[in-house]
Amino acid sequence: MKRLQGKIALITGGNSGIGLASAELFAAEGAQVIVTARRQDVLDEAVRKIGNGAVGIQGDVADLEHHTAAAALVRDRFGGLDVYMANAGVITIKPSAEVSPADYDAQFNVNARGVFFGVQSIAPVLRDGGSIILTSSLAATRVLDGHAVYAGSKAAIGAFARNWALEFRSRRIRVNVLSPGPVDTSILEKLGISPADRPAFLASMAERIPAGRLGEVDELARAALYLASDDSSFVNGVELHVDGGMSLV
Ligand SMILES: NC(=O)c1ccc[n+]([C@@H]2O[C@H](COP(=O)([O-])OP(=O)(O)OC[C@H]3O[C@@H](n4cnc5c(N)ncnc54)[C@H](OP(=O)(O)O)[C@@H]3O)[C@@H](O)[C@H]2O)c1
Repeated sequence: MKRLQGKIALITGGNSGIGLASAELFAAEGAQVIVTARRQDVLDEAVRKIGNGAVGIQGDVADLEHHTAAAALVRDRFGGLDVYMANAGVITIKPSAEVSPADYDAQFNVNARGVFFGVQSIAPVLRDGGSIILTSSLAATRVLDGHAVYAGSKAAIGAFARNWALEFRSRRIRVNVLSPGPVDTSILEKLGISPADRPAFLASMAERIPAGRLGEVDELARAALYLASDDSSFVNGVELHVDGGMSLV
């Protein structure tokens, strides 16, 4: 029996990286997957890759109407949702002295506000016994150069999860955090690391990870599947670190 057979799952930021790998695995495990992201062309390609009747919804998680529209589509087309993975995220690395209000707002609007209002909008259509997964970061608990604002926005997610785990208990909805360490995704390009500098950057990063390498998106997807499925039926309110041990050093 597939682990998400008959389930409906929505993943924000599902056209790339960890979100796309999770969407593909959830679909392979029987789920009907809905993915959201801003770039329509990349979203269309992702929907083709995911298969199993996947649906894409274009929009920005910082825009509250996007969440209202997503919740309406879930209700009208599928009648309800079993898994909500709030995964869309952005990062800008800068020393705090150089952070502008725009840098601050961009990260908090997507990483914290987008998650908060995404869950608020989707909660009415989440079925009892459902699973909410929030993608945080190693940076939420470990100090990394230039990460103060990103870390703050991701730390907020951990606080949301602990509160929601109790707020939703009468509906048996579990809320857990997936906390990745460094994973080689397109987020690195968005950090401004050029293709030429990428190998040196990855090598220096790998040296700092006890596992001796970066994570693979599939490794994060398998952890997301664990949190999404009944395999984690007694797991609620945790932060699952999938970081090759980097949070220990
Ligand atoms: N890779 C790592 O090393 C790492 C480590 C720790 C935590 N994380 C976290 O893991 C999550 C996934 O990141 P990733 O590494 O897979 O990076 P990625 O490949 O860049 O994926 C980010 C996803 O978020 C979407 N997105 C970004 N801003 C959005 C917005 N305003 N509205 C809607 N969608 C938005 C992107 O699609 P569009 O651009 O099309 O909107 C994309 O699908 C993020 O929350 C990130 O902070 C990553």
